[in-house]
Amino acid sequence: MTTSNLPGGDHDEAREGGSLRAVLEGAPFQADPHAVLRQLTDSGAAHRCEPDGAPPQLLVTGYEAARQVLTDPRVSKRSERAGLEPGWLMSGVRDEVGVDYMLTVDPPEHTRLRKLVARAFTPQKIDALRPRTKEIASRLADDVLAQETPELVDGFASRVPIAVICELLGVPLGDWDRFRWASEQIVSPVAGGDREEAYVWMSGYLAELIAGKRADPGQDLLSGLVTDTADDRLTDAEMVGMAFLLLIAGYETTANLIGAVLHGLARQPELLKALRADPGLVPTVVEEFLRLDGPVLTATERFATEDMQVGDVPVRRGDMLLVSLAAANRDPARFEEPDSFRPGRSAGHVAFGYGVHYCLGAPLARMEAEVAITTFVRRVEGLTLAVDEADLEWSPGLLMHGVRRLPVSAVLSGHPNDR
Ligand code: HEM
Repeated sequence: MTTSNLPGGDHDEAREGGSLRAVLEGAPFQADPHAVLRQLTDSGAAHRCEPDGAPPQLLVTGYEAARQVLTDPRVSKRSERAGLEPGWLMSGVRDEVGVDYMLTVDPPEHTRLRKLVARAFTPQKIDALRPRTKEIASRLADDVLAQETPELVDGFASRVPIAVICELLGVPLGDWDRFRWASEQIVSPVAGGDREEAYVWMSGYLAELIAGKRADPGQDLLSGLVTDTADDRLTDAEMVGMAFLLLIAGYETTANLIGAVLHGLARQPELLKALRADPGLVPTVVEEFLRLDGPVLTATERFATEDMQVGDVPVRRGDMLLVSLAAANRDPARFEEPDSFRPGRSAGHVAFGYGVHYCLGAPLARMEAEVAITTFVRRVEGLTLAVDEADLEWSPGLLMHGVRRLPVSAVLSGHPNDR
């Protein structure tokens, strides 16, 4: 990365060509990634960085360049197709134990895997989950708001997607805490972490769960996959990969989105008021939060299989391409005054990615966020943070962005119909 592009002050280390990664993963970046990303976008659509011990990386921040990379057939999910060892990750860690799934493979393997599960995620199928999601969100909202100082991430924003994804897939909710630990090790890997142990536990757990469903299938999605009789149905190993992906892709992302909107409501009392007066506004508000404060900062790693050009930056075969969805969604060349909150103008955002790997769960995530926020605002007339904004903690890493805890003071609605 052209280190001279980086903001000054705290970022001396990167300007000296040391560790740009340290800047992109440090606490100031996590709290406000957009400030750092904006300076990069202003100086070009793509930025080179040469981390020690890992392939060179290109961070793509421009909107058009992001869409180019996400659809370019010369760009692969497989590092070995770019002449590297298999399994390089954006964290600079090499994954020697991981399982493959649709987000780690290219067409035509990808096309087959996606087709087998896509029928469970059609808008009609997702709409059928709405009443049950409402029940779950109502119960959780009542429970969390009964606390003296409600903590909205653990008590609500995370719990809604966890409960929904467990029901959808047929995973016992009681196993969730262990699951969450494993998912965190895998999604935000750090050198020396428990990644291998997490994989071993998770693969074993899912293989057992799937064997149980084969013996005694239920109505859930995983049972549907194991009882599928199509010729191109999933093998047992692919089934573990699929369950794994759906569980980890389906909870932290949506939890971060719900958390971002709740955080926004605590900072903008007029927004809470507007949504209470007209809950029909919730979908467009959620969409603008996806653009402005989307849960996935950076698309998963990709690799150049040939020399090419991104923006005006030359790319060499073997370079790792990291697309900053957060930067693209605030590119002033695409969105006028990109930092301002203007519900209704978010069409074309790339918070769910772009191209063949476009988020399969987008209709589910949107439905869950809409139901969760609608349920919440009906119950709450006033919302303020119970800690200083500066004391909020943010999830680490370059992949995800989300607030980890959101303690609030809430004024509950006195109206009896608001339950
Ligand atoms: C607000 C919530 C969500 C956001 C922002 C989000 C974002 C994304 C993004 C950006 C990608 C593409 C990554 C890349 O190209 O590297 C993706 C892929 C994917 N997401 Fe989501 N996601 C969310 C919720 C969900 C949910 C609820 C599910 C379902 C369980 C899900 C399942 C998937 C799957 C299966 C893929 C891989 C698709 C493929 O490779 O074809 N996501 N998501």
